[in-house]
Amino acid sequence: MSPVMPSESAPYPGDAAAASVDARNLVLIGPMGSGKSTVGAALARRVGRPHVDTDQFFVARYGPIPEFFEQFGEDRFRHEEAQIVAELLDSPRPSVISLGGGAVIREANRDALIPHIVIMLDITAEQAERRLGDGSSRPILLADPAESPLQRWQRIYTNRKQVYLDCADIVVSPEEATVEGRVDEILRRLQSPASV
Ligand code: S3P
Repeated sequence: MSPVMPSESAPYPGDAAAASVDARNLVLIGPMGSGKSTVGAALARRVGRPHVDTDQFFVARYGPIPEFFEQFGEDRFRHEEAQIVAELLDSPRPSVISLGGGAVIREANRDALIPHIVIMLDITAEQAERRLGDGSSRPILLADPAESPLQRWQRIYTNRKQVYLDCADIVVSPEEATVEGRVDEILRRLQSPASV
């Protein structure tokens, strides 16, 4: 990854810390419940960029994810998700993009992330338990009745964690618990060329 250079074009309308973010997309990855959508929206406000979310985009195009899984299955979901990831990463306007938690399992998506600044939001199982509720909005957590949604979350997280780390330029640790604290941490790291 090349270092983040100060923007040569007009400054972003967001705060001063954001002015050193270059034209690459800022992409949030991480496990289900890690706050990619909320932190993504807050980060976008701070850097004065649009925020897009692959899950929201998916829902606008195909309807609710649980129903889609039920009708068409996970493979088809991953296929359509990959199309959306490619479209959003290709946006002409630098954006903040929140990816669904499983997008990184596709090699094509991982390859497409390489030119962008990728930020992993990490969480603990305790934080996940509080945020996931009964798991009903995430069909992947309900796939095996022998496991609770949290057990399934833990197993999926264990399987994917290294992939998230390998893709990430910046990892935000679970200790940063508040949304604004996480955004501040991301902006600090973006200003440090060693990070990205
Ligand atoms: C999934 C995560 C979800 C959503 C889908 C599958 C996954 O997004 O894309 O239910 O496989 O981890 P969030 O990470 O936003 O919950």
